[in-house]
Amino acid sequence: MAERRLFVCTNQKSGVGEDLAKALKKELKIQGVKSLVVGGQKLHTRIQTCNCLDLCKQCKKGPGAALVVYPEGLVYGNARPKDAERLVQSLATGRPVADLLLDAE
Ligand code: FES
Repeated sequence: MAERRLFVCTNQKSGVGEDLAKALKKELKIQGVKSLVVGGQKLHTRIQTCNCLDLCKQCKKGPGAALVVYPEGLVYGNARPKDAERLVQSLATGRPVADLLLDAE
């Protein structure tokens, strides 16, 4: 079974990354998309917390956290728990959440 992983930075003093990771886990269950069939293959999604993703400039300036979606390579910044619903929806639709995307240079 293939895996998709969301790595959520929890290096902020505010604890927003931890809250975002919890909200994403909850939302995966609510939307029933923890496991999806994509292109005939079962895809399981895991939410993982991590330390600094080296995107501090973005996440420390705003009130949210940075996260990376692997293997898609999407990089989001300033994401907050209230964004979990549409971040999870984007996993199912394949359309990124444009206003949270960062340029991963
Ligand atoms: S503190 Fe979030 S990426 Fe560095």
